Amino acid sequence: MSGSGRIRNADLARRVVSADEAAAVIRPGDTVGMSGFTGAGYPKAVPEALARRITESNAAGKPFRINVWTGASTAPELDGALAAADGIELRLPHQSDPVSRQKINAGQMDYIDVHLSHVAQLAWQGFLGPLDVALIEVSGIAEDGTLVPSSSIGNNKTWLDQADRVVLEVNSWQPAGLDGMHDVYYGTALPPDRRPIQLTRPDDRIGVPHLRVDPAKVVAVVETDSPDRNTPFKEPDDAARAIAGHVIEYLEHEVTRGRLPAELLPLQSGVGNVANAVMAGLQESSFQGLTAYTEVIQDGMLDLLRSGTLVSASATAFSLSPTAIADFNAEIEEFRDRILLRPQEISNHPEVVRRLGVLAMNGMIEADVYGNVNSTHLMGSKIQNGIGGSGDFARNAFISFFVTPSTAKDGAISAIVPMVSHVDHTEHDVAVIVTEHGLADLRGLSPRRRARLVVERCAHPDYRPMLTDYLDRADRDAYGRHTPHLLTEALGWHTRYLETGTMLPAA
Ligand code: COA
Repeated sequence: MSGSGRIRNADLARRVVSADEAAAVIRPGDTVGMSGFTGAGYPKAVPEALARRITESNAAGKPFRINVWTGASTAPELDGALAAADGIELRLPHQSDPVSRQKINAGQMDYIDVHLSHVAQLAWQGFLGPLDVALIEVSGIAEDGTLVPSSSIGNNKTWLDQADRVVLEVNSWQPAGLDGMHDVYYGTALPPDRRPIQLTRPDDRIGVPHLRVDPAKVVAVVETDSPDRNTPFKEPDDAARAIAGHVIEYLEHEVTRGRLPAELLPLQSGVGNVANAVMAGLQESSFQGLTAYTEVIQDGMLDLLRSGTLVSASATAFSLSPTAIADFNAEIEEFRDRILLRPQEISNHPEVVRRLGVLAMNGMIEADVYGNVNSTHLMGSKIQNGIGGSGDFARNAFISFFVTPSTAKDGAISAIVPMVSHVDHTEHDVAVIVTEHGLADLRGLSPRRRARLVVERCAHPDYRPMLTDYLDRADRDAYGRHTPHLLTEALGWHTRYLETGTMLPAA
C-alpha cells in the first residue's frame, strides 16, 4: 500500500520514486506517449521535472529534445512547460497551448495534426516509429496490477501496450469514484483481422474497466495530488446564445418533420464556448431523454445530465471548468452509471459514429460560401489548435453542424468567405452551417444554391453585399458555372486582411 492508499499492488508500490528520478528515465531523442486529453488526465509532475532537466541540459550546450504524443491537447504543466524549455522536437496529434502554438508557427517545433481516431492505428501500423516511454496518469493501481484510469483515457491503452518503458503517475486528487466509469475495449486489430465493434447504443459496455500493463515494463511510479487544469468557460455571449437558439429550433423542426426521433440521436459537441452554449441552450428546450456519443464532457453536458435531460454520455475525457470539477467530484456517485469513458479510437470511431447516427456540432474558424470548412488555420498558414476529432465526427455524422460567430476580431474578419484559406472539412462533409444570424441547411443543394443560402442566412450584414457581388460576378465570369469562382479575388479576401487589418474594402 502506498502513502495515498491508491497503489494497492505491492510489487508496483515498491517502484515509487520522485518526479525527478522518474524524469531521468527519459533520454534525449526519446518518443514519449503521454496521457492527457484536453486539460484532463495528463501527467502533472514528471513533465515539469523533465522540462527542468531539459532546460539545464540545453543551457549546458547539450541539446535535449523529445517527441511527444498524447491523446489530444493537455495543459501548461505538460505542453506549456516542455515547449517553453525548447524540449519538443515533434508534437502530435493535437494541441491548444499558446507556447506550443507560437513555436509551431515560428517553425521551431514540428507538429502533425491527425484525426484523433487514426492515431492508435498509425502507431500500431508502425508508421510513427517506435515508442520509447509511456508516461500515463492513472487514479489508482488495483491489487491485480491493473490500472484505474483517471479523467481521460485517450490513447493510454495503445501507449501502455506499445512502449518499451512505462512511467505511471498515480494522482490521488482524482476521485476514487472514477473506478468503474471506464470501458476499455481491447478488441481492435489491424486489417484483415478487424471485427465489427459491437456497440449499438451510446451506453453499451463492450470492454473492461481497467487498463492493462506488463509490470515488467514499469520503471517508475510517482505519486501526485494535483488538480486537472481546464480553462474556465466564458459565459455564453449574445452570439453564442443566438447560435444555440438556431440549432435548437432546427432540431425541433426536424423532429416535427419526422426526420429525427423525439429524443433526437446521440449528440457530439465539440470543444469551446459556442459548443458549450448549445448544450446550455438544450437545457432550456423541451427535449428529454437525450444521449451523447462524444469526445469530451464539458460543463454544459454535465448540467444536462444533472437535470435528467441527458440520460447518458459516452466520451473519452472530461473537459470541465474548475467549478464544474468540484461539483462533479462531490456528486460522482450519481453520475457513475451514466457516464462512460472509452479509448479515443472508440469514442471517435467512424464505424460507431455512422451506426449510431450522431448529430455532430463543431466549432470552426471559417466556412466558404460552398460549404468547405476551415477548423484549424488562421489566414491559411498559422495553426490555431488542430482538427482534433471534428473530422472523425463530421464525415460520419447523421447531420454535421459547424458553428461560429459570423465575424472575428471585432468585425474586421468575416467568418464566411468566398474560399476558405485551408480546408479541413470539404463541402461533402458539411451539412449545416450556423452563425448568430441564422442557419443554412446545405443538404440536397447544388453548389450555387448553397452559396446563395449561406450568404443570405449566415454572413454578417456588413459582408453580405460584398459576398453577393462576388457571387454575381463569379456566376458571370468564372471559368465554369458548377462552382463559380474568381480565384485571385477569392483568396484576396485574406490578403486584404493581412495588408489592411480588415476584410472590408476601404471606405
Ligand atoms: N479568421 C482569423 N482569426 C479567427 C477567425 C477567422 N475567421 N475565427 C476565429 N479567429 C481567432 C479568434 O479571434 C481567436 O483569436 P485570439 O485567440 O487571438 O482571440 C481564435 O481564433 C480562437 O477563436 P475563438 O472564437 O475563441 O474560438 P472557439 O473557442 O470558438 O474555437 C476553434 C473555435 C475552431 C478554434 C475550435 O473549435 C477548434 O479548435 N476546432 C478544431 C478542433 C475541434 O473541432 N475539436 C472538437 C472535436 S470533438
